[in-house]
Amino acid sequence: MADHFFYKGVQFAKHVHSEESLDNAENKFTVFDDDIFNVTYPKSGTNWMIEILNLIKYKGDISLSNQVPIYMRSPWYEAVSSKEQIEVLEHPRILSSHLPYQIFSKAFFESKAKVIYTMRNPKDVLVSNYHFNKIVSFYKDPESFQMYLEDFLQGNVIYGSWFDHVKGWLQMKDDNRFFFITYEELLQDLRGSVVRICKFLGQELEDEAIDLVVEHSTFKSMKENKMSNWTTVPTEILDHSKGSIMRKGVSGDWKNHFTVAQSELFDNIYQEKMKDLDFKFFWEEK
Ligand code: A3P
Repeated sequence: MADHFFYKGVQFAKHVHSEESLDNAENKFTVFDDDIFNVTYPKSGTNWMIEILNLIKYKGDISLSNQVPIYMRSPWYEAVSSKEQIEVLEHPRILSSHLPYQIFSKAFFESKAKVIYTMRNPKDVLVSNYHFNKIVSFYKDPESFQMYLEDFLQGNVIYGSWFDHVKGWLQMKDDNRFFFITYEELLQDLRGSVVRICKFLGQELEDEAIDLVVEHSTFKSMKENKMSNWTTVPTEILDHSKGSIMRKGVSGDWKNHFTVAQSELFDNIYQEKMKDLDFKFFWEEK
């Protein structure tokens, strides 16, 4: 069984969070006006965005990417272990979070800080999580793909329902402190996406600097960089012999996992849960 607990109805892993760390994140965390939050539902492109945002921050200089593990460059601010890591960050801080909207920092909403929210086709999110769960020692090893699919659709997974997460955050879609982007857009046009992100952040970068950001945030570069591919995490926590967080880095791998019946079940629930949402997702246009 997973070593998990519930905070305000959402499931969290005891190895990473505590009641206190979540209460701190929600109610006590100090937010600075220049903070940038990298928010995602897990496996939607969090690490990719950490790499991109830090490279933008340092105008393409790769020193930090080569020296500091990616999870320390932009720690998850709700995690128990992140306090010291956050204290040493240079401003503007780039912080990561998987928190659902309703338990995100209350202080954030009183600040001028910004959120970049990255979304991904939920079928690929599911597949990526399914594989990741097998390598994280303290996650429940999925008994089968079918069982994991059912848990995912019911929101019976760490960080809760994908549907609730995305719908919750999309309430802010017309707020200019928010930038919504998809994993698929990053894949389709990484350079164009970097330019758009720079614009949103008010960061003007020379063309050469943008080229460096792009070059060092490709799947290949990140997979080869031991500071970006999570191999610095001890094997007791991540069993590197079972797989890598930098797994495939493509869109549509769900087609290699779902049966026709599973895809139909997923689509029916997706339609039902997302029907009232006035938002066209990149993956729906295909
Ligand atoms: P797959 O398991 O489908 O390969 P997160 O960072 O939110 O945990 O998401 C991890 C997923 O993002 C993994 O997906 C990983 O391979 C993919 N990923 C990470 N960096 C990437 C990059 N530079 N380009 C494309 N995909 C990337």
